[in-house]
Amino acid sequence: TAIHDLSIQRGEGGELHQVAEGDTPTTTTAFGTPVSDDQNSLKIGRRGPTLMEDFHFRDKMFHFDHERIPERVVHARGYGAHGYFENYESLADITRADLFQRPGERTQLFVRFSTVVGNKGSFDLARDVRGFAVKMYTKEGNWDLVGNNIPVFFIQDAVRFPDLVHSIKQEPDRAFPQATAAHDNFWDFISLMPESMHMIMWVMSDRAIPRSFRFMQGFGVHTFRFVNAKGKSTFVKFHWKPKLGLQSVVWNEAVKINGADPDFHRRDLWNAIKSGNFPEWELHVQLFDQEFADSFDFDVLDPTKIIPEEVLPTRPIGRMVLDRMPDNFFMDTEQVAFMTQNVPPGIDFSNDPLLQGRNFSYLDTQLKRLGSTNFSHLPVNALKCPMHHFQQDGHMAFRNPVGRANYQPNSWGEGPRESPERGHVAYPEDIEGQKLRVRPESFADHYSQARQFYISQTETEQNHIIGALTFEISKVETPAIRIRMVSHLLNIDEEMARKVATKLGIKEMPAPADAAVPTRMDLQPSPALSILRN
Ligand code: HEM
Repeated sequence: TAIHDLSIQRGEGGELHQVAEGDTPTTTTAFGTPVSDDQNSLKIGRRGPTLMEDFHFRDKMFHFDHERIPERVVHARGYGAHGYFENYESLADITRADLFQRPGERTQLFVRFSTVVGNKGSFDLARDVRGFAVKMYTKEGNWDLVGNNIPVFFIQDAVRFPDLVHSIKQEPDRAFPQATAAHDNFWDFISLMPESMHMIMWVMSDRAIPRSFRFMQGFGVHTFRFVNAKGKSTFVKFHWKPKLGLQSVVWNEAVKINGADPDFHRRDLWNAIKSGNFPEWELHVQLFDQEFADSFDFDVLDPTKIIPEEVLPTRPIGRMVLDRMPDNFFMDTEQVAFMTQNVPPGIDFSNDPLLQGRNFSYLDTQLKRLGSTNFSHLPVNALKCPMHHFQQDGHMAFRNPVGRANYQPNSWGEGPRESPERGHVAYPEDIEGQKLRVRPESFADHYSQARQFYISQTETEQNHIIGALTFEISKVETPAIRIRMVSHLLNIDEEMARKVATKLGIKEMPAPADAAVPTRMDLQPSPALSILRN
């Protein structure tokens, strides 16, 4: 950035004033009044006191005092970029979603990568899940694919989410640790939550310390639906695959990088995009029908399970390029509001109980964080397609309906009307049953896929998992929790469990944890799950 020589003058007290001249704009208050002196508040006499009449000082300080908004309740630390999605082909036969109709067509988008646990000012290379949230500005409304860099999740039902997040964040009495899961509360919760074992294998693997955002995969996690113009539904799982491939650092490197440069991932993305080295991901889908879903070993509604790519290959449908950093971090990256319930016609939800709960949570949290029902008017959230409705007023309303009619039906011939043909239609799935608080039996096997992940790793990667488990669980002060964790590991891989137990100094091996369903032995290693083989 060039250094400008602005005219500098000295005031009576020796203070410096940079004074506008030539093309330099004159400073104004937020209300537009030109400012004569931005270095001295208005006082009585030369030595004060300061006057309440000083509207410039009041305005400047008032705005500063209100700069902070609540940080995200999770994923507080993030970094975003603008870019576009480009179709390889038309998907008209499987979805009516407008953005997927025409080969070569581009859709503008904004992506925010994040860590989950740490506060806004924490470090980039924490061992953690990374958020991978994409907002596509389609011609039929925004589509938010709010994913992670790990294809499964800790819990099967959204009602457990507050407990999960409370357990993983800093402990409430001591307010530490601030950005890691290495503490009693977290491992206590996990050891009481067998459904989290598959996720734990991923989080203890190299995936959780990516080299940069540019070398990570992204996953929609849940099963979604595509619906075509004839109303036919196809289940879909979304995968982002980085063109650069997958890379991670090792723990030793992560620790040093965090100390030397806590902004390592931010700097990497900034430097890459600013130097024209635009990162790219391919969007892949796994497509299947109800018959496959019914025949599959696990429940496709269970977010703790993947469909192995060896069983159902992924199909590339387009690419995403990130080519522009926001002009202002707060305006875009902080104010972007992702919501899983933002889907255009042609994309629909499955009954995954985690997804159903998320669809409720995000709207609620955005109102709390951004403070007004009109957060969709903020530039980064605003639609890039026409919008017509009768919603009005509230704090900060920029886009009220115009004209006399703000209701319908009306006799004035004004305003929008619903359209059964063009509107989003929920897939009319046949559902009947009692209202129950139960978990289906098809969700009960918590260990098979954890084992499949572990045995799919190379020996080096397995050693990293053992090292990570040992390091993290060694921070747990309560012996019973350590032992409980080992009892779960025994159900995943006995040799791994023994190695971790030995390193933790556990002399007497516990019995394997009570497993609701015996682990299925027939799962083969899946090369796609290893970073080093890819
Ligand atoms: C952020 C809720 C599960 C991905 C958030 C936020 C909330 C939330 C409240 C903060 C949003 C904000 O203030 O902007 C939930 C609930 C979940 C859940 C209730 C389960 C019941 C998941 C899962 C994924 C995920 C399974 C990945 C598939 C994300 C991402 C963000 C986020 C990427 C950050 C968005 C951004 O960058 O602004 N979630 N979440 N969440 N969540 Fe979830």
